[in-house]
Parts: sequence; structure tokens; C-alpha cells
Amino acid sequence: GPELPLTGRHILITAGPTHEPIDPVRYIANRSSGKQGFAIAAAAARAGARVTLVAGPVNLPTPQGVERMNVETAREMMAAVEAALPADAAIMVAAVADWRTADASGQKIKKDGSGKPAPLSLVENPDILATLGKHGQRPTLLIGFAAETEKVTDHARAKLAKKGADWIVANDVSGAPGASVMGGDANSVHIVTADGIESWENLPKDVVATRLIEKVAHALSARPD
Ligand code: C5P
Repeated sequence: GPELPLTGRHILITAGPTHEPIDPVRYIANRSSGKQGFAIAAAAARAGARVTLVAGPVNLPTPQGVERMNVETAREMMAAVEAALPADAAIMVAAVADWRTADASGQKIKKDGSGKPAPLSLVENPDILATLGKHGQRPTLLIGFAAETEKVTDHARAKLAKKGADWIVANDVSGAPGASVMGGDANSVHIVTADGIESWENLPKDVVATRLIEKVAHALSARPD
């Protein structure tokens, strides 16, 4: 077929939340519909890339031409991402839970009648983006997302350095749940790179996805394989 902008490239994408079990019926999770990450995977496939989409638990169909790996927890997501390397670009859109329970209970935790809640002891999850930032097989272009409620671009700039990423796509999620980016179809993003900030205001998530993939193709075409 005709040469497309990402023909011959491998693009690795994470999307959705992770679920960290507390017991067989309860879990810890972030709010994430997976819509933005799935839209980016679809756009990358349309642009001719081989796409690996590592998806947390979401209720979304697999975009055409995308290889999907379903995971539940952050540690499973980390393992699936490492198994999918090497990649020309990695776009980490997933809202990974920062903490998991130190040990999930095999049985449903019951109220003990004392009125005191059962203690939950948490441990930190691996940071998948930061792990790729210093990985022996670091993708050529490493992109993180940042959902922030205040000082959006300041926090994004700090995150670039801390995670060893090339770009951070920051979005302001300060709106009330239900009236906001989360679960909705529109997004406003600020792409923070070493060169500065580019802002795309109030666009449908699939337009954000198409533009981001155009920018990825442009950046990769400027670099040797
Ligand atoms: O630090 P924060 O969670 O705001 O960073 C968000 C970025 O880091 C996103 O790209 C997200 O996918 C990634 N991340 C990750 N693994 C984690 C936490 C965040 O890959 N454990």
C-alpha cells in the first residue's frame, strides 16, 4: 500500500485505569474512561503504525488494526509494556494507581462490629513512564500525560525532568466530575516539551489524538531509526 506517516514504526500506548485489589470485591483505582488513549491508538493505526495498546479495565472496543493487551494492575501493565519493547514512541496515557494494597485479602473483608474501619496498608506501584525514561530500550520518543487540577504547565514541566520524558501532555481536569474531561468527549491540552508549550483548547478527544499522532510522526521523521 501507499507509504503512510508512521509506516514501519511501532507505537506503544497505555490507556485506562489500573485496578489494585483490596479483596475479591473491592479495588483502588483512578478515574479514567480510556477514551483519550484508545483514540490515540486508533489514530496511530490510521497513520500506518504497528500499535500495541496496553489497556487497563475499560469498556471500549479495540480500534481497528491495533494489538491490544488487557491488564488489571499496575504491575501487570509494567510487565506488558516491557514485553512490548522496543518501540519508536511510547505514549503513556493510562491513569495508573500510585499505590496498591500491601497484600490483598483472599476473602472479602467484613465489618468487625467495632465501628473501626479495617486498616489498609499501601505500597507504591512502579512508575511505568519513569521506568521507560531510564530503560536500556528507551523508546526514541517518550510521551507522558499529566492530569492536573492547578498550576498545570508548571507541574508538567517538573514532570518532564522527573520522569525523563520528551513531552508531557498536560490536561486541566479541575472541572467537577461529570462536567469535566473525565469520561467526556472533549479535552484541552498543553504539550510541554524542551522547546516550549503548545496549547490545544477544547477539542474532541479524537482531534487531540490525530494532532498528537501528526506531531509524533513529524518528530520521528526528523530522527534516525
Ligand atoms: O505523576 P503522574 O501520575 O501525574 O504522571 C502521569 C504520567 O505518568 C502519565 O503519563 C501516566 O501514564 C504515567 N504513570 C505511569 N506509571 C505510574 C504513574 C504514572 O506510567 N505508576
